[in-house]
Amino acid sequence: MVSSDVGTRALSTVSVETSFVHKVYERISSVYLGKWPIVDVMFGPALHPGRLKAIKRLAIQAGDEVLEVGVGTGINAVLYPDDCKVTGIDLSVSMLEGAQRRLERHGVRNVRLKQMDATKLQFPDESFDLVYAPYVISVVSDPVSVVQEMYRVCRKGGRIIVLNHFLSERKFLARIERILSPLTVHLGFKADLDLRALLVQAGLCPVSVEKVNFPRIWSLVMFVKD
Ligand SMILES: C[S@@+](CC[C@H](N)C(=O)[O-])C[C@H]1O[C@@H](n2cnc3c(N)ncnc32)[C@H](O)[C@@H]1O
Repeated sequence: MVSSDVGTRALSTVSVETSFVHKVYERISSVYLGKWPIVDVMFGPALHPGRLKAIKRLAIQAGDEVLEVGVGTGINAVLYPDDCKVTGIDLSVSMLEGAQRRLERHGVRNVRLKQMDATKLQFPDESFDLVYAPYVISVVSDPVSVVQEMYRVCRKGGRIIVLNHFLSERKFLARIERILSPLTVHLGFKADLDLRALLVQAGLCPVSVEKVNFPRIWSLVMFVKD
């Protein structure tokens, strides 16, 4: 039975600790980074339109300071214009090592990488013009803290974008996603993260929510800090 109280209900049927997520990504990093990067090959093209739309919505200006949360293997690094400065953070050292190799391979010079937990960002308030979390929020242990931290480190008037799959609004699909979530969590993500409850519990109101990718089961959620 799922509680109907959006302000207090669990965001997912599964709850995980940061140490669990860390272990999962250290273990599956070889699947991302091995000789055959299965994840990028299988999911890269399907998830790419959302990444391109997010870059467009960020509307990056020359000189902007951008924070990418959960940078993973750095798949987004080549999409940023050369004239902005990007800081990419991730919990997993193995994923960051893969990202570093990708930056070197592609000659990307405007992205710096740091090992950090997104639930406790080590940046002062309002350090960035733009803050972006692609395909990360259903991975982290505490999505409410992560979006609040993203909001905190963004300057007034700056944009914050969360790109992710969330629990379906269709009852049948939502039921399947809830059944799958205890399994998918071992692959690094929850399949049933509840966007409405996340927004209410984080106390944040988006300026837009767009469906992206095909099938259109991913959402691009944009906030502007006031
Ligand atoms: C599915 S990958 C997404 C990578 C990349 N953003 C992309 O677009 O493909 C999720 C990443 O989030 C990272 N992650 C999970 N929990 C985190 C946390 N609390 N703080 C920072 N990174 C975290 C994982 O290590 C992993 O690299």
